[in-house]
Amino acid sequence: MRKIIIAGNWKLNKTIKEAVELVNGLKQDLAQAKEVDVVVCPVYTSLADVRNVVAGTNIGLGAQDLYWEDAGAFTGEVSGLMLKDAGVQYVIIGHSERRQFFGETDATVNKKIKAALNHGLIPIVCVGEVLAERESNKTFEVIKTQVTGAFAGYTADEMKKIIIAYEPVWAIGTGKTATGDQAQEVHKFIRDLLKKLYDEGTAQTVRIQYGGSVKPENTRELMSQPDIDGALVGGASLKRDQFVALVQNANVKK
Ligand code: PGA
Repeated sequence: MRKIIIAGNWKLNKTIKEAVELVNGLKQDLAQAKEVDVVVCPVYTSLADVRNVVAGTNIGLGAQDLYWEDAGAFTGEVSGLMLKDAGVQYVIIGHSERRQFFGETDATVNKKIKAALNHGLIPIVCVGEVLAERESNKTFEVIKTQVTGAFAGYTADEMKKIIIAYEPVWAIGTGKTATGDQAQEVHKFIRDLLKKLYDEGTAQTVRIQYGGSVKPENTRELMSQPDIDGALVGGASLKRDQFVALVQNANVKK
């Protein structure tokens, strides 16, 4: 049984004060939410303060990116070594916004995964097709390229430590969610691909989150799908009441 994992991707939002206020609220409301793994991913500047709030609770801490070298002349970057040092446990890699605005490719995603694993961070690796690709029936082809590129050279034992987030780009921040069936179809495709690339045990172990306009209202339908094991949540993770309701709704028995 794969445990549901809900991660809030705060993107470029919230000052330290706002971040601490939100996470204090989540801590109060979600102290009992043990059936679901909960993670928050603030901006780098809030990581240390948020860590101090979530330390010793069931809320995990994630970063939104990392660089693959530990240290050196790489102005503006933050490494896995430094994230680990800051108390981070998870790291989002290859989010579509990084692919779209910051030149992220399957090759850089592949290197970043290695850096994360080397430092004991759990990578949340994002894949997903854009609207034009879906409309021209290229979804599976795109996902296959992204998955095989991201995980090229990784062993089954490494793969088991990784979380995948399927985020159709057309559903991110648009209010358009994939239906449960649409998402399930791609999640199953990814799991079958993992079975081909690795083995049945690995395919059944890897958790695959869905992302793209997940809200409290559609969480139950999505999480009820057999191959959907959680959500990566943007907009709805920024508001205490919405994120709490979403986490509560995610606790579905399969
Ligand atoms: P959204 O973002 O929930 O605001 O659509 C999801 C994501 O980009 O991870």
